[in-house]
Amino acid sequence: MIQFILNQKEISTGLPKGMLLLDFIRYHQRLTGTKIGCREGDCGACTVLTGELKNGELVYRSVTSCLMPLANAQGKHIVTVEGVNMGGLNFIQQCFSDQGATQCGFCTPGFIVSMAGYCLRETSVYDQSGVDAVNGNICRCTGYKSIERAVANIEEKLNERTKGNAINFAIENNILPAYFSTIKERLAVYHLPVNGTGNQQGNPAKFLGGGTDLYVQQHDTLPEEEIDFLLDKNNLKGIEQSGNRCILGASVTVTDILESPIFQQYFPALNKHIKLVSSTQIRNMATVAGNIINGSPIGDLTIFFLALDAHILLSDGITARELPLRKLFKGYKALNKTADEYIDKIYFELPGPNSHFNFEKVCKRTHLDIATVNSAIHLIIEDDIILSGFISAGGVGPVPIFLENSAAFLKRKQVSPEMITSLIDIAQSEISPISDARGTAMYKRLLLGQLIKAHFISLVPKEHFKDLMNA
Ligand SMILES: Cc1cc2nc3c(=O)[nH]c(=O)nc-3n(C[C@H](O)[C@H](O)[C@H](O)COP(=O)(O)OP(=O)(O)OC[C@H]3O[C@@H](n4cnc5c(N)ncnc54)[C@H](O)[C@@H]3O)c2cc1C
Ligand code: FES
Ligand code: FES
Repeated sequence: MIQFILNQKEISTGLPKGMLLLDFIRYHQRLTGTKIGCREGDCGACTVLTGELKNGELVYRSVTSCLMPLANAQGKHIVTVEGVNMGGLNFIQQCFSDQGATQCGFCTPGFIVSMAGYCLRETSVYDQSGVDAVNGNICRCTGYKSIERAVANIEEKLNERTKGNAINFAIENNILPAYFSTIKERLAVYHLPVNGTGNQQGNPAKFLGGGTDLYVQQHDTLPEEEIDFLLDKNNLKGIEQSGNRCILGASVTVTDILESPIFQQYFPALNKHIKLVSSTQIRNMATVAGNIINGSPIGDLTIFFLALDAHILLSDGITARELPLRKLFKGYKALNKTADEYIDKIYFELPGPNSHFNFEKVCKRTHLDIATVNSAIHLIIEDDIILSGFISAGGVGPVPIFLENSAAFLKRKQVSPEMITSLIDIAQSEISPISDARGTAMYKRLLLGQLIKAHFISLVPKEHFKDLMNA
């Protein structure tokens, strides 16, 4: 049985664990305020909140219910637009109404729920704006300016609150209904997904993390399949530092990375990098292992971790082995792993004082878009000499690429425009882009060259590179 709280109601259901939460909400609970738009995580019309206890704190995140299986609701508080409704309009709804931020109204429940999640967030190391909170919500009518004004009014109100008081403040200020104050206590009695070993050898179950990749491709068949749900397994969670090594559980999400004090400390431009990955709702669900195993040539986290020369720990539940991430990809969506093996951990050496890391991505729109070409670089520079340099590139071949020859070339080189021009030539010899809907092969080659220049421009003082910047 899957057990959770839906708005105020206790749910205990024996329906298939792989059934989409969206279908459960609309067709089994008749809560039709949650809308169906794209069913692919793109429009935000189906946004709901998940509240869960983390280290004794109740943490809410927005997710797209069209990509979330019922199993991932276990032990959580699921909030739909009906769950934030009050006698009259709540403060968020009133701001949207006052600013004319709704027209046909189809997208509005999704925006309201995303903003409710924003109001429930305690401020953290990662300072998200109200507009960031709705970056996964699309509106076809308003032109967004009225929505931005409504969001600004809500942010202004939140400026009055003190730290650690998000839920009480929301209740006292007519932002959310009073029952939210009881949820922490009510969730404490729920059975949470246990420590699991992931798969057992010979078990034909499919692995599933956040579902943001698999449900887009197989939403009609997955509910009937045997699935090993990994997202909430305790042994696959958490980000730790052990000496110079950073170790991530396979089911760490993009948001977990963004909010991690370790990542914030060692990657000063982290917010800029991660802002380029999908949207708030998708980041709240998408796991690092899912990004790696889906094998997409343009997976952003894969490209990020390839440049850090990360390693993965694979296990079939009985035996385990380690593999450099760069050895995982054999060909388009072909991996150096058996069907039984799951990723248990990902680890890499943390950047040191002479390290310089950068991530770049070009896509057609800023949010909710996969890359045309992406790239990351990790340089260790001492006295103007590159001691080691790793570059990864996505969208320029059948797999995410660790540029081996480029890494060999970079060793003991002085940073100069000439060196960068030679590096780009070598990188070009290591890629094999094809022309497709995202651009021609020639365009992608040009883009990778420009991204390599962008890496150096962002990492090395600009006066070194006046000519390069004009090129
Ligand atoms: C609207 C939208 C926007 C997106 N934007 C981006 C983007 O900007 N950048 C980007 O890189 N991606 C993007 N994606 C793709 C996707 O969100 C990411 O690839 C995500 O990291 C996948 O993680 P997941 O946990 O949701 O994967 P899932 O769908 O759960 O799984 C993906 C694959 O990994 C396997 N798997 C999961 N966990 C494990 C494990 N521990 N061991 C072995 N196999 C495992 C599954 O069996 C499946 O084959 C987007 C997706 C959507 C829907
Ligand atoms: S229906 Fe569009 S994001 Fe879910
Ligand atoms: S008000 Fe019509 S889609 Fe947003």
